[in-house]
Amino acid sequence: MQTTSRAGTRSVAFAFLIVVCGAAAAHAPATLKQAFKGDFVIGAAINAAQISGQDQRGDALIESQFNSISPENVLKWEKIHPEPGRYDFGLADLYVEYGVEHHMFVVGHTLVWHSQVPVWVFQDENGNLLTRDALLARLKDHIDTVVGRYKGKIRSWDVVNEALNEDGTLRQSLWYKIIGPDYIEKAFQFAHEADPQAELFYNDYNLENEPKRSGAITLIKKLKPEGIPIAGVGIQGHDHLDWPTSEQEDATISAFAALGVKVAITELDISVLPNAGAQPSADVNLRIQQEAALNPYIKGLPGAVQQELSKRYSDLFRVYVKHRDTVERVTFWGVTDGDSWLNDWPVQGRTNYPLLFDRSGQPKPAYDAVLHVVSGPQNH
Ligand code: GLA
Repeated sequence: MQTTSRAGTRSVAFAFLIVVCGAAAAHAPATLKQAFKGDFVIGAAINAAQISGQDQRGDALIESQFNSISPENVLKWEKIHPEPGRYDFGLADLYVEYGVEHHMFVVGHTLVWHSQVPVWVFQDENGNLLTRDALLARLKDHIDTVVGRYKGKIRSWDVVNEALNEDGTLRQSLWYKIIGPDYIEKAFQFAHEADPQAELFYNDYNLENEPKRSGAITLIKKLKPEGIPIAGVGIQGHDHLDWPTSEQEDATISAFAALGVKVAITELDISVLPNAGAQPSADVNLRIQQEAALNPYIKGLPGAVQQELSKRYSDLFRVYVKHRDTVERVTFWGVTDGDSWLNDWPVQGRTNYPLLFDRSGQPKPAYDAVLHVVSGPQNH
């Protein structure tokens, strides 16, 4: 039958629209950043090849899928400030420019950490440990210089990284031993003075475990009333197929939300390989001997494990979306499986599959699983 009247044409067009919209609604959005728009930003930690334009395939994924970036290594002390009085801003400048140019939420990582910091930082010219005042002065110079340089461009800083032990006590790092426990508040104060608009975070792994989480809660409860400008807690999220449970993740985010701080998932990846350490950890100094049993998927990931990974990702994203009022960002620690630090940690030379894009840059089933967890009535 032919529809000739204008009204008839309109109603046919309307019916067509309903069919098209219905079909669109049944499909997940096309990219990660679109899927969670209005919930939280989606980030990726990017490496030197991506920052300098040598990994064009990686850059295409970063620009199409993500609206936030973190620097995998280029802002760590050993890279940006390798020798006394010598800063190397080359890649860090390119990193920040890349994010600004693509209108991304640019993250700074990290100012105070016990790893990837040169030993000279803690010593005088004779090799003796610095005094408290001298180390504080050095810390202030570093923070003023680095945070000041990217003022207004880096929106969020991981000010202190991994200050806690697994039992929730403060780690006896050289920062702690030389300055005392108030090195943490000093670092936040210095960062705030250098860029009063930047959001300042405390960042750590294993916060899903109750004793360490309690340590972080104690820390925040101490800092907030003192007026220390801590905006949020970074839950690193170096996860496994069996850890943390959704309940642990939910309880962890809820506990921080109750303190009135924001949460960012700052370093998300899910290892599918046998857990080589005694317990889940992200201690970069851990080294474990390679053996065949620890590297079972050299030739590819079996379908069943692929499915398990997808389910884990979708379960975790359901928790993040449930807490969309608290969670401001979810950042993956890497873009493709081939980029991941988990291929060389804690055992060197393994083949891991922890991210959403495979070694050739193709989306994995876990990518689709995550896209399907968009916020909706069922999640609230
Ligand atoms: C920790 C650090 C990160 C990174 C990862 C492993 O979680 O915070 O900077 O080094 O380990 O790459």
